[in-house]
Amino acid sequence: MPDEPVGEPIIVARDVTKVYRPGQESSVALRGVNLTVHPGEFVAIVGPSGSGKSTLLNLFAGLDRPSSGSICVQGLDLSTLNEDRLARWRGQAVGIVFQFFQLLPTLTALENVMLAMELSGRFRGDRQRRAKECLAEVGLAELADHLPSELSGGEQQRVAIARALANDPPILLADEPTGNLDWDTGQRIVELLAGLSARGKTVLLITHERDLAARATRVIEMRDGRIIGGE
Ligand SMILES: Nc1ncnc2c1ncn2[C@@H]1O[C@H](COP(=O)(O)OP(=O)(O)O)[C@@H](O)[C@H]1O
Ligand SMILES: [Mg+2]
Repeated sequence: MPDEPVGEPIIVARDVTKVYRPGQESSVALRGVNLTVHPGEFVAIVGPSGSGKSTLLNLFAGLDRPSSGSICVQGLDLSTLNEDRLARWRGQAVGIVFQFFQLLPTLTALENVMLAMELSGRFRGDRQRRAKECLAEVGLAELADHLPSELSGGEQQRVAIARALANDPPILLADEPTGNLDWDTGQRIVELLAGLSARGKTVLLITHERDLAARATRVIEMRDGRIIGGE
């Protein structure tokens, strides 16, 4: 294999299947997915709607569990964690970014980012300092005191990325983060993710847009619950 990365992988999925609502009304979302991702990679996941992209990302985030197969992150088999430990693990291991930002409308940008550190055990002053640092990292230092409704879509997505960075997780998972943004703004969000990956984060980005995916270091393509290229 050319360019085989050296060192331990950060994410390993083995023979992963996911069946929603097992039984008569079942819906098979993943049909045996194998994937290995190395630290610092920037992986784009493309494929038609319904092909299982979000399901796979949610499993990597520990938001859901596979029906069979295993997911290991940083050498840890997520199936060995109970719900409490999985939630705590998620808080420090992954930052998640969604299409519709999911900011709390009554909190300022700074407060939204600080909220992500609520369970971190850090003192308030420390959380505030870290939140400012993260907003600066996404270019929003000046807008820290604004409410989401006072920000553009691109700015709101930057706040969401700052929030995802708050606990300094090694992995960022972004599910169509540009799906609600115009083309230029989407480009800039993907540039931001590329920069974070260049500084050591492992980034997985789901996108419908080929030109955005092209910015990644690897593109994997999903079809009907399977990876059909790039794994
Ligand atoms: N919570 C759910 N309950 C039942 N079926 C689901 C659920 N989430 C996703 N599915 C189904 O699983 C398949 C894969 O969905 P998804 O992972 O969201 O695909 P994508 O993100 O590629 O559009 C689809 O057929 C979808 O209808
Ligand atoms: Mg999806």
